Amino acid sequence: MSKYIVNGNNPLNGKVKIHGAKNAVLPVLAASVVSGRESIIHNCPMLSDVSESMEILKFLGCDAVIEGGTAVINSGNLVTDEVPGELMLKMRSSVIFLGALIARCKSGKVTLPGGCEIGPRPIDLHLKAFKEMGIEIEDRGGIISCDGRNMKSADVHLDFPSVGATENIMLAATGAKGVTKITNAAREPEIVDLQEYLKKAGFMVSGAGSDTVYIEGSDEGKRTEHCIIPDRIEAATFACAVLMTRGKAELDNVCPEHMWAFLSALKECGADITIKNDTLRLDGKKRIKAVKHIRTQPYPGFPTDMQSVFMSLMTLSDGTSVVTENIFKDRFRHVDGLVRMGADIVTDGNVAVIRGRKKLSGATVSANDLRGGAALTIAALAAEGESVVDNLCYIDRGYEKFEENLRLLGADIQRK
Ligand code: EPZ
Repeated sequence: MSKYIVNGNNPLNGKVKIHGAKNAVLPVLAASVVSGRESIIHNCPMLSDVSESMEILKFLGCDAVIEGGTAVINSGNLVTDEVPGELMLKMRSSVIFLGALIARCKSGKVTLPGGCEIGPRPIDLHLKAFKEMGIEIEDRGGIISCDGRNMKSADVHLDFPSVGATENIMLAATGAKGVTKITNAAREPEIVDLQEYLKKAGFMVSGAGSDTVYIEGSDEGKRTEHCIIPDRIEAATFACAVLMTRGKAELDNVCPEHMWAFLSALKECGADITIKNDTLRLDGKKRIKAVKHIRTQPYPGFPTDMQSVFMSLMTLSDGTSVVTENIFKDRFRHVDGLVRMGADIVTDGNVAVIRGRKKLSGATVSANDLRGGAALTIAALAAEGESVVDNLCYIDRGYEKFEENLRLLGADIQRK
């Protein structure tokens, strides 16, 4: 398993370009199944999760190639409606292919995505909505078989604004005659990006970004060209890294309007930030203050995916912060590593209390999940001395050229 060797305590200075959003490209790649035509998708981040999605598309019978950040997929000749377990289990979000397969083939078969490092990843909300759409579901030993021959449009209400469930229902509904309405839908920017892709692919979709989404089914897909939105989570990761190392840098290709909760928290802690169009400038010259209380919420609240990197930043703040993780059951698995680096953090259930310290010290730590691994890496960049961060397979799922971009900003980080 590869690892980072980091010599910390170097300020990050310079400019870095934020890549396309992992959580936007994955549903769009799955959505390319529904049109039966060619999709050209630009600004794809080169991540292991994207490679896994391309493998699934090829297994389903699509022509699928990706080069230099552009994916070209033709889903004209599907050969199966089933995603095998070995491909499903490599990536949690592969369940999103189910809705696309039901829309296109009127049937679909996947295995349950296993419990993830950040807590269980149930799909009960997905399946409850599918049943309300007349999709017959058989769940035998973790293999979900769906029969959508009698699928119809429906008004479905989500008990929780689940991102994946919203996306899965949107995709299934493209194959249902009439208009499907989703209430209490997730409002994330990645849902809006999926809507924009589907509209270009010939489907009538509206309301994404609000809590009510409308999808009108059609069997007339179109050739589509689409550009993926920037990754707000990567932007937050680099912002915290620059501030933690007391550097001065510019992040290009940022959508500030996708990050208000995070930017508001940075302002609360007195961070010196300037927004100019799609550039976020940060100056970490002065030590930031602690933020009183961060509560993760569905969008537009403070994103759970930014919780760990923000906690890293708080370990060097002046004062005491409280972080409450309301979305996932086990998303504090980066705390042990931060404490090994000298952070003062106490957790009780889904609440963490962080007392800011003046410095962190290098240590050997392990990534246990994608964003927790990023949090440990940026803490290592700020820590005095050498750190080792292993289990980079988690980080590779969500950050393209992570160490190269950090080195561009002056970090002393090597992959071994
Ligand atoms: C998406 O996961 C993202 N992944 C996650 O990002 C992100 O943390 C999450 O949304 C929340 O914003 C992708 O988009 C690929 P959910 P998803 O369904 O769709 C519970 C990252 O680091 N739930 O909104 O799986 C669930 O257990 C990843 O980039 C049910 O109970 O998230 C969780 O507690 C991590 N039943 C909560 O809802 C269901 O049927 C939110 O899950 C579905 C979800």
